[in-house]
Amino acid sequence: SFKKLVFSGVQPTGNLHLGNYLGAIRKFVALQEQSDCIYCVVDMHAITMWQEPAELENSTREVTAAFLAAGIDPTKHIVFNQSRVMQHAELAWVFNCVARMGWLNKMTQFKDKAGKDRENASVGLFAYPTLMAADILVYRATHVPVGDDQKQHLELTREIAQKFNHDFSDRIRDLGVGVEMKSGEETVHGFFPITEPVIEGEATRVMSLRDGTKKMSKSDPSDLSRINLTDDAETIAKKIRKAKTDPQPLPSEVEGLKERPDADNLVGIYAALAGKTREQVLGEFGGQQFSVFKPALADLAVDKLAPIASEMRRISADRAYVDSVLRDGGERAGALAEKTMKDVRRIVGL
Ligand code: ADP
Ligand code: NA
Repeated sequence: SFKKLVFSGVQPTGNLHLGNYLGAIRKFVALQEQSDCIYCVVDMHAITMWQEPAELENSTREVTAAFLAAGIDPTKHIVFNQSRVMQHAELAWVFNCVARMGWLNKMTQFKDKAGKDRENASVGLFAYPTLMAADILVYRATHVPVGDDQKQHLELTREIAQKFNHDFSDRIRDLGVGVEMKSGEETVHGFFPITEPVIEGEATRVMSLRDGTKKMSKSDPSDLSRINLTDDAETIAKKIRKAKTDPQPLPSEVEGLKERPDADNLVGIYAALAGKTREQVLGEFGGQQFSVFKPALADLAVDKLAPIASEMRRISADRAYVDSVLRDGGERAGALAEKTMKDVRRIVGL
């Protein structure tokens, strides 16, 4: 079987927010205790939409600083930016030839990001999920911690691995580079693992503070909609104070949060930050008004996030250190990726 290995990535597109932290980065930190982990700043994904080059360079360093400030240890694990390891692009090309147009046509993120003017979206934006599959599988990673919005892309990664294993099974067996595994009814010689998404906890989809039916997002024009990881204590408190709510008190049961997306979101954020369940939070605050709950949430958020913000500032100021982490991580990742690609080239006949 495949050795347990965790991989995940975050795009350097500015405005890292609470959703990125609770849905992804905080889980990266938790997983590093039990597993080998590779965490990537996916700059090649970022350029699927226009990025100012100088800003992109800065954002790459900022996301790296966020990883380190949150507690990822780059000496025990690998932290690097995607474009340093060209094997990601090489494997993505192979996967472009494995994945089917029909599979990619179903991707809802492309539809959301391309908007109405689909004819004018980049080809890269359309092919984004095959590059993501390559990011993961070039390390033969078995587990990928992500937010709920990435579920469909992870499913596509699994489909690509399955089709590759199936199409090249005989060749993988002849070269002796795979693992015998079940694929539906059949047994195949698989080269790639069927990766598991790790989507769990109370904040797999953090919503906008201004509209609980929309995902908290980097690109929301309203700055009040998200808590940025670089926000200071006062700003965090202000955004929570101004968060949209309804006039009723908090319910005492989780069922009472149905049809109340804004309340559900704030309770979910509290739960995730406190390491509790929604149920436990309602056990504490059920029946209370938001005038009581919001200040408690603001205190908790400041408590958990302000140290990360100040650590991010400290690390960002040491540009040489950040660059050295990426350089060293890139070298180690590159060696692993090349090992995979040597086999992939032989398997495919390239
Ligand atoms: P974004 O979606 O903000 O543009 P990325 O695509 O780089 O950022 O996502 C980085 C990670 O953060 C992914 O694992 C994604 O699922 C997670 N994520 C993004 N937004 C949220 C959110 N609102 N709630 C929970 N997780 C999120
Ligand atoms: Na995303």
